[in-house]
Amino acid sequence: MKISVFFTPLAVTQNTVGGATVLVIDILRANTTIVTAFANGARSVVPAAAADEAITLAQSLQSENTVLVGEKRLEPIPGFALGNSPLEMTREVVGGKTLVMSTTNGTAAYQTVNSAETVIVGAAVNFTAAAAYAREIFDANGELVIVCSGREKQFALEDAYTAGRFAQAVASGRGRGAVEFNDGAIAAKELVRRYGDRWKRAVAASAAARALKQAGYKNDIDAATESDVYDIVPVYKNKLIALP
Ligand code: MLT
Repeated sequence: MKISVFFTPLAVTQNTVGGATVLVIDILRANTTIVTAFANGARSVVPAAAADEAITLAQSLQSENTVLVGEKRLEPIPGFALGNSPLEMTREVVGGKTLVMSTTNGTAAYQTVNSAETVIVGAAVNFTAAAAYAREIFDANGELVIVCSGREKQFALEDAYTAGRFAQAVASGRGRGAVEFNDGAIAAKELVRRYGDRWKRAVAASAAARALKQAGYKNDIDAATESDVYDIVPVYKNKLIALP
């Protein structure tokens, strides 16, 4: 049995994710926003690699139920209805809607894992549910790949810590040596040894959290570091995120 953690999507190849079960992480903020949107009744999320792709996708869907969502340099994209804040994903606004979404790192990461068999959306807000879902599949096929969205193609502490939490939860209860961890997974679990189960402390230490705080989005960090608020697990398949 093997759990691998990749700290950025740059490591993703057909070889590393083809046919695999993959858990994608972007705790600040894309995945937190996506999970919150589903909890408030969104029908689906179409992740785009960039804002212009999101606009083209939204036009091709030609539906009044489509909402453009996303950020560039942390701020809402001009012309888009919503930014990338979980606090904006209210039932009144996203209920029954298809969100076409573009964020700097998170939505682009999904596009790199199209060849995976199953792709799970993981965050703190759905941590226990997503870990249980991943563990069920891991029990059956013995492999899990965790892909962190990272930050501008670089290591991101908040995602790496979250990856360690998931790796630990999925492997828990198995005998010593029963699960092989790649070097990324070993390092991610070391972060969990450092920060324990304190999501807020681990995430607050990251550069992404500092940048969000400076931009006035402290409330989003607070929302993203509340664990197990939702018992739902969105899954990405055929270029679309939906509840299974
Ligand atoms: C991203 O996908 O790059 C992030 O969600 C950035 C953000 O905090 O908006």
